[in-house]
Amino acid sequence: MADGRQWSAEQLLEAAKQARSRAYVPYSNFGVGAVFMDADGHLHAGCNVENAAYGPTNCAERTALFRAIADGCKAGEFQVAAVIGDTDTPITPCGVCRQVMVELCAPDMPVVMGNMRGEYRIATVSELLPGAFTQKDLT
Ligand code: THU
Repeated sequence: MADGRQWSAEQLLEAAKQARSRAYVPYSNFGVGAVFMDADGHLHAGCNVENAAYGPTNCAERTALFRAIADGCKAGEFQVAAVIGDTDTPITPCGVCRQVMVELCAPDMPVVMGNMRGEYRIATVSELLPGAFTQKDLT
């Protein structure tokens, strides 16, 4: 990118769409895909994985983030994330995923939220969960 960014919203959403195609969603039939770009520019992808007991279901965002951490990425070093679903307006991450992003991503990390119509909006992690409970509250 001319401005020094290693990403475009369209490229990230395309990768998230590919991840969405692998969603395991026999109960909701609502597939979601997500990607997180690490410090080196590599993408870590995830999809939602549902469960007959419903509660163990893992959202796409957490699948991607946990996978990235397990693969050696460091908390706070992600450049950007993207998430996509078949929603009327750009998809919006659930509260649990917002809390997990607050834990593992920088407050100013942009999150690209899109839908299958090509619409998207971008907000930072701290904009998505203002006033979050964090590590500093435990001291
Ligand atoms: N879901 C996600 O994976 N990410 C979101 O941002 C919203 C919701 C999943 C959870 C469940 O498998 C399905 O979408 C319906 O809620």
